[in-house]
Amino acid sequence: NEGALWGGRFESGPAAAMAALSKSTHFDWVLAPYDVRASQAHARVLNKAGLLSEADLVTMLDGLDRLAADVASGAFGPSDSDEDVHGALERGLIERVGPEVGGRLRAGRSRNDQVATLFRMWLRDAVRRISTGVLDVVDALATQAGAHPDAVMPGKTHLQAAQPVLLAHHLLAHAHPLLRDVQRLRDFDVRAAVSPYGSGALAGSSLGLDPEAIAAELKFDSSAENSIDATASRDFAAEAAFVLAMIGVDLSRMAEEIIIWSTPEFGYITLADAWSTGSSIMPQKKNPDVSELTRGKSGRLIGNLTGLLATLKAQPLAYNRDLQEDKEPVFDSVAQLEMLLPAITGLVQTLEFHTARMAELAPAGFTLATDIAEWMVRQGVPFRVAHEAAGACVRVAEARGVGLEDLTDEELAGVDSALTPAVREVLTVEGSIASRNARGGTAGVRVAEQLDGVRAVAQSL
Ligand code: ARG
Repeated sequence: NEGALWGGRFESGPAAAMAALSKSTHFDWVLAPYDVRASQAHARVLNKAGLLSEADLVTMLDGLDRLAADVASGAFGPSDSDEDVHGALERGLIERVGPEVGGRLRAGRSRNDQVATLFRMWLRDAVRRISTGVLDVVDALATQAGAHPDAVMPGKTHLQAAQPVLLAHHLLAHAHPLLRDVQRLRDFDVRAAVSPYGSGALAGSSLGLDPEAIAAELKFDSSAENSIDATASRDFAAEAAFVLAMIGVDLSRMAEEIIIWSTPEFGYITLADAWSTGSSIMPQKKNPDVSELTRGKSGRLIGNLTGLLATLKAQPLAYNRDLQEDKEPVFDSVAQLEMLLPAITGLVQTLEFHTARMAELAPAGFTLATDIAEWMVRQGVPFRVAHEAAGACVRVAEARGVGLEDLTDEELAGVDSALTPAVREVLTVEGSIASRNARGGTAGVRVAEQLDGVRAVAQSL
């Protein structure tokens, strides 16, 4: 087994099925550019420690540069005999600079500290890309909110008519959790920015190499405090997988509403042609597939998280080969979101809102009943009594098949003597919305404030 990283103590090479099981180049190749950079940093600390001459350092760095270029162009790739990306790149280096110089690079490091470091590097970059994509969705929501400052809609709990709210308020209610997800990704980076390089297989390096120098060169904040922990722990990956799954869940909540809103029964929105699909048999169909794929992929993201946690569970210290299973679920979550985020952004940007329809439905289902009760409280009636009275108004209106605003003076007075005709001042959707003007409420001034706040936070991230 020519290019293998191990073999001295073996009389025969691995069985074919063993090699096939062991192989990871088909997914860990994405770490190759990071591996080369880390190798260059490692070469420099070997040189500083007196283990690599100046001339050999120059040869090695140049060989690694050429290797990186060949990886980027596709001229160099994994071969059948390569077990993983690390072995393949050592082979590539030796092909370029010879075994005498190339064979010196591996001193004082192990694939265990390498892979833990490279996975962190890859993930820190990936998470930045995902953050940008999530902020694009937030921006699309904020833009739609800003474009519809006065539009009203039925607010719901239990998917039943509850109280009227501003459309902008509802849209921003999807922006906030996404902003928190981006904050979570920033926070993830605080813990991910610790380099395992120099931990060796598990016990640390004996060759006088400087882990802090490598950490700094690879843009980590520090090197690991415990080499056993650094090579064995993957909580950083699980933390990222959680936030990625949470993003999926948050997007799926919005997607579900877009699906419902686009039905003729709701009729709140029309989806742009560019972000919908048709049916192969029913010519009239316009399907909300972006939203459905968002819902579907959120299940996949949750699966990636739980799969990774199951892999990590009950592994003894330190490195175990189980850990080779850590990367695919996380790579997949990133890949799925990188496909999803631009599509959901485009979908939200192009939603056409039928504000007249939403306004018509806003008072339906007696959504102003709470306003009657609260108006009575302002007249000095205990809320218990007011709640009963407002409920009685609903009963009368329902029996007569009219809205609360259509009750006659006599009907109102018949329910409770406190219910004078003046109550009609709150029996409009606009009046109800304007009255909820405490911080966080749906009143126009508050929602405008909120929109500024969302934009400011998004800008700062
Ligand atoms: N490819 C492995 C991984 O992804 C790293 C190799 C470690 N192998 C070993 N025998 N210690 O985790």
